[in-house]
Amino acid sequence: MVFTGDSLNRGQFISLVCLLQGVIPKDRKSIKTIESLTVFSAMDYNATIEFYWAPFLVESNSDNAIVHRVTDRIVRGRSIHKHARHWKGADIMVFNTYLWWMTGVPMKVLTGPFSGDMKNFEMMETEDAYRVALTRMVRWVEKNMDPNTTRVFFTSMSPTHEKSKEWGGDPTGNCLNETTPIEDPTYWGGGSRKNIMRVLKRTLERSKVPITVVNITQLSEYRKDAHTAIYKKQWNKLTPEQLANPKSYADCVHWCLPGLQDTWNELLYAKLFYP
Ligand SMILES: *[C@@H]1O[C@H](CO)[C@@H](O)[C@H](O)[C@H]1NC(C)=O
Ligand SMILES: *[C@@H]1O[C@H](CO)[C@@H](O)[C@H](O)[C@H]1NC(C)=O
Ligand SMILES: *[C@@H]1O[C@H](CO)[C@@H](O)[C@H](O)[C@H]1NC(C)=O
Ligand SMILES: *[C@@H]1O[C@H](CO)[C@@H](O)[C@H](O)[C@H]1NC(C)=O
Repeated sequence: MVFTGDSLNRGQFISLVCLLQGVIPKDRKSIKTIESLTVFSAMDYNATIEFYWAPFLVESNSDNAIVHRVTDRIVRGRSIHKHARHWKGADIMVFNTYLWWMTGVPMKVLTGPFSGDMKNFEMMETEDAYRVALTRMVRWVEKNMDPNTTRVFFTSMSPTHEKSKEWGGDPTGNCLNETTPIEDPTYWGGGSRKNIMRVLKRTLERSKVPITVVNITQLSEYRKDAHTAIYKKQWNKLTPEQLANPKSYADCVHWCLPGLQDTWNELLYAKLFYP
């Protein structure tokens, strides 16, 4: 089973490993990371659950497993082989990609390789660039996944909670200190672009190999209380200014575990075993 995509999909992978690993004796399991690939092995089951970092699914300048915080993001819209060679042979694929596209500016889409002067590119609206990349993924699925023996899933966009004014809270706050879910059943945050959701729906529907959407967006919209906020490993030492204002470094994108992403996996489990 291979999860591939961005750090939200990594979170779902970690959640699944946590849910399963408890029933496997210590010496019959392992987990290791080599560059972009993390592999959890359950030896007695001949099974691996893997995560492969590919935040845009197609090739990009953000592919490095560690150094990927580039501001000027560039994708090579039709090029997927660099990542997809790590997906070959999987019985179950779980894709995602969304947040990295949300730059607020048109995407630079290379038509040539990431080398030389990179003169061959087009600037595309986010929706169009996203469609190009998803279509490339669908083509790969059609060519490489056997609908009789394998399953393909795509997890929809994971909401963020960066502005508490969106749910009628503090006009300057974010998810920090939120302890209860949003109760308005129709709540939909500004960070979840409906246009992108439409592109996703239409593009996946056209796939000749069925791709099951794990639609976690609405149920996760409510969970302003479920983010890691300030309770996570800080990779860089916090400055005194940050420490004086915890809101400034609260992570309102990723999710605590155990938590919401375990529910995503329960949905995935239901779709896998009770299609
Ligand atoms: C795992 O694979 C090995 C080698 O292919 C095979 O001998 C063994 O029976 C398999 N075990 C299970 C539990 O499927
Ligand atoms: C899937 O199974 C059907 C029915 O058994 C068969 O006709 C078809 O060729 C199979 N498809 C592939 C890709 O193996
Ligand atoms: C969050 O809660 C803590 C502890 O109750 C409090 O000291 C802090 O001022 C709160 N921060 C915000 C931004 O509301
Ligand atoms: C996911 O669910 C939302 C409503 O909760 C719906 O608007 C959207 O079209 C669904 N997305 C897909 C890709 O099916």
